[in-house]
Amino acid sequence: MPQTPELHRGLDPQDWSATRELGHRMLDEMIDWLATSRDRPVWRQMPQNLRAELRETLPQGPQDLEAIYEDFRRMILPFSSANEHPRMMGWVNGGGSAAGLLAELLTGIFNVNCGGRDHAAIEVERLVIAWAAEMVGMPTATTGVLLTGSSMANMVAVLVARRAALGAEVRTHGLQGAPLTAYASAAAHGCIPRALDMAGIGSDALRQIPADAQHRMRTDLLRAAIAEDRAAGRLPFLVVGTAGTVDTGAIDDLATVATIARDATIWFHVDGAFGATAAFSPRLRPLLKGIEHADSLAFDFHKWAQVPYDAGCVLVRDPKLHIETFAQSLAYLTQEARGLAGNPPWPRDLGPDLSREFRALKIWMTLKTYGSEGIARVVESGCDIAQYLAQRIEREPTLELLAPVALNIVCFRVRTGAADLDALNRELVADLQEAGIAAPSTTTIDGKLAIRAALFNHRTVPADADALVDGVLQLARRRCETS
Ligand SMILES: Cc1ncc(COP(=O)(O)O)c(C=O)c1O
Repeated sequence: MPQTPELHRGLDPQDWSATRELGHRMLDEMIDWLATSRDRPVWRQMPQNLRAELRETLPQGPQDLEAIYEDFRRMILPFSSANEHPRMMGWVNGGGSAAGLLAELLTGIFNVNCGGRDHAAIEVERLVIAWAAEMVGMPTATTGVLLTGSSMANMVAVLVARRAALGAEVRTHGLQGAPLTAYASAAAHGCIPRALDMAGIGSDALRQIPADAQHRMRTDLLRAAIAEDRAAGRLPFLVVGTAGTVDTGAIDDLATVATIARDATIWFHVDGAFGATAAFSPRLRPLLKGIEHADSLAFDFHKWAQVPYDAGCVLVRDPKLHIETFAQSLAYLTQEARGLAGNPPWPRDLGPDLSREFRALKIWMTLKTYGSEGIARVVESGCDIAQYLAQRIEREPTLELLAPVALNIVCFRVRTGAADLDALNRELVADLQEAGIAAPSTTTIDGKLAIRAALFNHRTVPADADALVDGVLQLARRRCETS
């Protein structure tokens, strides 16, 4: 007789009421945290002793959930990257939202795997993909998939474009020496060459087309580069237009880039990581003219649309080509005519992931809660505050603006007070962050180190822009006095 194994009770608590009580407390405290973000310094570095304390060995026995939560409150929460803070102005970071926080909680209930199958989460994902296509004016048949972010979305687009150029065989035989070439602005994001690298094409295949004084791709040079490569026997296969460059927010002339790509019969992809979100705004949408012609578009809901991380998205105009780039026949993943294994195509047929979280829920809840008009107001406000900040900088004799302000990014620097201005401005950014005043980042514009303020947070108001400038001026004076 086989022995009956000892009854294992699983991981559910014996006393749900304690879990319920703790859950309610956590939610109350997290809502308080969000509601008071402005009252805290924008960033606090995690102290060394807490880093050391956190690094315990793999827990063997069970620990009390309430005590773990206390550890979270003490060691993790206060030392975050502070994206929720109104004076977080560095890189390209969205602020999240109350609706997003609650959506993340609901996502945890399902523990759903969105690789495929016939269930409601897949329908929600298809719906938000349809909303995204509607936002930018792409056809209703457009397919898409949610991904970690635009780095992956651009990568997926490169793979579909590669499949379009070389046919189905590229999936089994590889490039076989095909001399593919791709084109993007010199101001394009670093994930574009990296996508070519990861797709086996190599980053050297990217022609980085110089930008004009507005930091937009020079379309005359794009046309010439394609012609030159063709004449040399190479195979131009992909043109990437950028809608909102990472450094300055410049938007390429997408209508002209679309025409050049169409005339040359080349895949037209748009990296609209954050800039595509401007399509929500009737006021700003004209800046993106031409985006609706894209063969594919990469963008993120987690940036300007304020959906919590991560929520990237790729759209592809040709559904057949999209599916043919990723679909794979596997016995253990057969798609059936009925039952839970029905409902093709599955997200796994549209991208590289099989196990996937339910990203669509937080996008669905955010867009329903605030509406496209609510997101449009966030985007317009970011652009208006950027203009306000630029005007303030131009009034300050010791500051200079380093690039035109196309959307919501302002690059500037202190222009006096040190022999090495790059070093001074780099130190000032760290000073601002460490003082908890504001958290801009840095970049290089025309060889000069810039303080880069990117206004993505929906909580930011004009007074935050003033606090940034006041902080820069005050810290610069202090540095000059002590040097
Ligand atoms: C223009 C642009 N493209 C691509 C990316 C990469 O996006 P992600 O960080 O979501 O991978 C960024 C990130 O800021 C970006 O600004």
